Amino acid sequence: MWYDALLRFAGTSMSAQLEKPTGWIGRLIISRFLDKGNAQLNEFCIGRMNLTEKDRVLEIGFGSGRTIADMARTVEFVAGVDFSPEMVESAKSWNRRAIAEGKVDIRNAAVSALPFDDASFDKVYTANTIYFWPRPAQDAREIMRVIKPGGKLYLGFRPRHIMEQLPKQIIDSRFTPYSPDELGKLFTDAGFPQIEIESRVEDGALDSYCAIITRPAS
Ligand SMILES: C[S@@+](CC[C@H](N)C(=O)[O-])C[C@H]1O[C@@H](n2cnc3c(N)ncnc32)[C@H](O)[C@@H]1O
Repeated sequence: MWYDALLRFAGTSMSAQLEKPTGWIGRLIISRFLDKGNAQLNEFCIGRMNLTEKDRVLEIGFGSGRTIADMARTVEFVAGVDFSPEMVESAKSWNRRAIAEGKVDIRNAAVSALPFDDASFDKVYTANTIYFWPRPAQDAREIMRVIKPGGKLYLGFRPRHIMEQLPKQIIDSRFTPYSPDELGKLFTDAGFPQIEIESRVEDGALDSYCAIITRPAS
């Protein structure tokens, strides 16, 4: 495949770039590849969020940052964190005006240590990041910490049975895939048993799955 040669030339691999897009290849190639490949998943999950003009939203692992620009058109405020400096720069450039207006805040941070107070957000969105969480149960609790009581996490993902059909040079041991049941158990064991998983069959793209996890109201 043409991208294998490009990745070898850049001294990297597709799985490393999907986990953390870096360098010129992350900024110019991988961020566009992610936007195209995950457009339906993002559209499906963000549609499930029923965003309103009063919402304060966080996105974790935003890639290019275009989804932040989309959500900022509706809601009061959007914050985003990503541990890739190149993706932070990309998101800053997609959201330049909204950042200047104080409507968007982009930070370079990791899912395991979110730089926000408890109960800061009505809704949190993350897509295609759970495969890379370093300490899944602790990271699930860290995300739920920043959600207001009664608020929700919307987690876009491709389940294990889909991931296992993808080429091994793309989906390798960097990824931890989850079945819907495994995802349910992860959040239930972490103390968040209120989880629903919705899915949509896609035409010409991988099917979309969105787990919706509620932080208990008290
Ligand atoms: C596969 S890409 C998904 C990007 C976008 N959400 C999408 O679905 O197209 C994973 C993104 O999450 C970020 N990421 C992965 N692990 C992370 C972590 N532990 N903390 C913060 N960001 C992380 C990566 O830098 C990358 O931007």
